[in-house]
Amino acid sequence: MSDVRKPLMAGNWKMNLNHFEAVAHVQKMAFALDDADYDACEVVVLVPFTDLRSLQVLVDADKLRIQYGSQDISAHEKGAYTGEVAGSMLSKIGCSYAVVGHSERRQYHGETNEDINAKALAALANGITPIICYGEALEVREAGDQVMYSLDQVEKCLAGFTPEQAASVVLAYEPIWAIGTGLTASPTDAQEVCGATRGWLTDHFGSEVANSIRILYGGSMKGSNVASLMSQPDIDGGLVGGASLDPDEFVAMARHRLLTP
Ligand code: PGA
Repeated sequence: MSDVRKPLMAGNWKMNLNHFEAVAHVQKMAFALDDADYDACEVVVLVPFTDLRSLQVLVDADKLRIQYGSQDISAHEKGAYTGEVAGSMLSKIGCSYAVVGHSERRQYHGETNEDINAKALAALANGITPIICYGEALEVREAGDQVMYSLDQVEKCLAGFTPEQAASVVLAYEPIWAIGTGLTASPTDAQEVCGATRGWLTDHFGSEVANSIRILYGGSMKGSNVASLMSQPDIDGGLVGGASLDPDEFVAMARHRLLTP
């Protein structure tokens, strides 16, 4: 974590919590968080599409500082794309962020780096910050190729981006073997890839842009390991799955500044 980048704690609810549950969950978080917490860390929930309208009404009515976003976004503007949701629809409903390229989308929906590149650009075109996910599978790590593999994904996902566009994204390093498994990358392992990512960003977009981009870690991040992961210089936040479904634990993670690594 650095002084120049504001930490970001983003809860990826995946396919959990209907719109009633979403409202109760966010109210619980909002009750516990105060201005000092939001000043220190952005707090975001990434929710199923069906929760968005209810959260928009809640957040607007109560002027909450919790932000919300989607877990996917269409690469297309509009038209005959059954089942997809356009960036313009997501920005209209108040989404600040959209996850793109989560490994579950890559694995179950065949999303490629090229698709993710197009989705990230669609998000930016609509004023939404894409959270671009990347990270290696277990075989790649066992072969010792995690840095090379991860940087190749980053390069393809950001292909053709101007420095201004790159400066507007968030990256999330999520080693697939750590997602939902209880296995967390050690702070040193996570820093290895996040630090190499920052180096790559510096080479391609310059140090000012590279130093402004937030790189999150994701993969079994929880209350008990958040502080040690956040103490690494190139980890600027978390993309939190399972632990974000417990509002108390997620609030404690957003307040990681109060924990000792
Ligand atoms: P996890 O999921 O925290 O449950 O491992 C993280 C993610 O997939 O974004």
